[in-house]
Amino acid sequence: MSDDSHEELLAQRETAHDEERQREAEPSVGARRAAAALAGVANVPGVAKPDPILVADDMSRRFGGVTAVEVEHLEVQRGTITALIGPNGAGKSTFFNLITGFDKPNSGRWSFDGKDISGAPSFRIARHGMVRTFQLTKALTRLTSLENLMLGATGQRGERLLASLLRPSWARQEADIRARAEELLGRFNLTHMRDEFAGTMSGGQRKLLEMARALMVKPDMILLDEPMAGVNPALTQSLLGHIEALRDEGMTIVLVEHDMDVIMSISDWVVCFAQGQVIAEGRPDDIRRDTAVIDAYLGTHRSLQEEDPS
Ligand SMILES: Nc1ncnc2c1ncn2[C@@H]1O[C@H](COP(=O)(O)OP(=O)(O)OP(=O)(O)O)[C@@H](O)[C@H]1O
Ligand SMILES: [Mg+2]
Repeated sequence: MSDDSHEELLAQRETAHDEERQREAEPSVGARRAAAALAGVANVPGVAKPDPILVADDMSRRFGGVTAVEVEHLEVQRGTITALIGPNGAGKSTFFNLITGFDKPNSGRWSFDGKDISGAPSFRIARHGMVRTFQLTKALTRLTSLENLMLGATGQRGERLLASLLRPSWARQEADIRARAEELLGRFNLTHMRDEFAGTMSGGQRKLLEMARALMVKPDMILLDEPMAGVNPALTQSLLGHIEALRDEGMTIVLVEHDMDVIMSISDWVVCFAQGQVIAEGRPDDIRRDTAVIDAYLGTHRSLQEEDPS
């Protein structure tokens, strides 16, 4: 190869790298759509959104003398990645538990996609299209990845499973469920773990498996409680990519996250909890500089840049 053509090749490669960087820097269609939808929304706790998929009112949950959640009003805009931040014990997980029917509030009403689902059990809420993952993964360690996913299709459905078992169409349904599970294993790069017990997987792979399992019911909204905690950096990037892809496909995502870099890179909107209340909400750039947010974190001796140790 002549020196000239070698240099040309190097130049071409450099251009390709530039393009890759450019693509990465450019917001996706979903991010642009979310930004446009939220453009006129003020940074005020409890502010109304143009097209909320979730609306919660006067939600409270007390444990003995501790008020874990006391949310006056909160709306989540459809089709966004909304981050829920706040110091340890701020009530983020409890709020997830309440709105997904895994815990009962002392007071409160909430609606999903315009339907009142206050007090509904978790499987019914899942059937309406809202599912969640847990801070500590709940994958069943003595089942294989495939079995975990197949169970996910029914696990949040309860009585519907029973009804379907009694019908001759069960075999057909099982085939559909298996096909969906295989598709999700592929999507999350877990096909090679298909027949492995979940107990043998790494923490990061189990987080992926849990997200895949939640997606079995084709939800419209997914709540992720610290999906990146304990996951290695490479897998974190892949998880972030999956979350963005889901938003770009039109899904609404709420995620609890402590790492400010992660929040800045993927969220369209940020809601900050402290002592059970929404103390601030807004665009990531504004929230990072918000004095109420900074005070809430400083009050617990945590900096916004600090990684979650749990
Ligand atoms: N089942 C329970 N029984 C008693 N107290 C509880 C229970 N669940 C939560 N709490 C209390 O409610 C408060 C909110 O807890 P929660 O787990 O919702 O916080 P969090 O924001 O998710 O915190 P972290 O970032 O550490 O996960 C805390 O004071 C916690 O100790
Ligand atoms: Mg929590």
